[in-house]
Amino acid sequence: MTHAVARGANISFIDSHPRAGDARKQVIAGLLQPQKSIEPKWFYDETGSQLFDRITRLPEYYPTRTECHILETYREEIGRHCGRECVFIEPGSGSCAKARLLFDTLRPAVYVPVDISADFLLEAAEQVALEYTWLPVLAVCADFSHDWSYVEQLPAGRRLVFYPGSTIGNLDPDGAVVFLRQVANVLGEDGGALIGVDLHKPTARLEAAYNDSAGVTAAFNSNVLNRLNDMFGAVFDPSLFEHRAFYDESRQRIEMHLVSRCAQRLSFDGQPIEFLEGETIHTESSYKYTVDGFADLAASAGLALKQTWIDDERLFSVHYLQAHSANH
Ligand code: TRP
Repeated sequence: MTHAVARGANISFIDSHPRAGDARKQVIAGLLQPQKSIEPKWFYDETGSQLFDRITRLPEYYPTRTECHILETYREEIGRHCGRECVFIEPGSGSCAKARLLFDTLRPAVYVPVDISADFLLEAAEQVALEYTWLPVLAVCADFSHDWSYVEQLPAGRRLVFYPGSTIGNLDPDGAVVFLRQVANVLGEDGGALIGVDLHKPTARLEAAYNDSAGVTAAFNSNVLNRLNDMFGAVFDPSLFEHRAFYDESRQRIEMHLVSRCAQRLSFDGQPIEFLEGETIHTESSYKYTVDGFADLAASAGLALKQTWIDDERLFSVHYLQAHSANH
């Protein structure tokens, strides 16, 4: 990591970045399944994080805009639920843009952005620390999908887990329950979670959001192949794959794939990987929920839904939850 932290920024750093050796095995195992797949976390190198940031500003991609609007409109009420001076933990913080909307109202004791993309994380966290000089920032580079080890190093205090962007929808429902159980654990008796969830809606609107006309999502999708090439010395030619995203209504999920344009055989770290023409790598799912569906999912993970905020068009939802045993 080459990033130097600006003087005067109230920021510290925990590095819990996953080891490359384990990752290589996991990636190869995913590519040897009958339905080839890649875990979404591989999208987020510096280029991938920047492309994703562009996705959030696309006209077709309504979730970010809508969620920000909900957070701004209801921030006082959200603040009453979340309380002040919490330990504010954000798994998958990216540009930290949404957390910024809440800082002045919540006045957290510390902000803990957690992201797998180390340089992007440090730049974003440093910006926050420079802008909000009263706010200590503790940046954590970790694979937030399963690594919660950094929690032991956090200062004492009531915890808020902020998980916007419908990132919960990128896990399949079983995985989402496992993740939310961990959240419930981290919250304990007195903490709370603020979670953004995209809502089920007509297919055309959803499909447009994941097939933008400027082709940014397509670029983001195929960038994962560059990433595998860089990290693991794989030999994917991104021009031999095309982007495909569609809504599976029965499973209520967007599926994103990279489709092989031809039959091809490549060697990944000595392991041959073959593609038929038209065969796909499943790169990402994005599950959509109804409010009741999400409440049930959360309940089975030990989280009770206390309040829900929704925009007028009913596109997106933000939920405040507490661990079941908490009776506030
Ligand atoms: N959490 C986002 C979502 O499900 C992630 C996302 C949006 C995404 N667009 C994407 C991931 C395109 C991969 C590709 O909506």
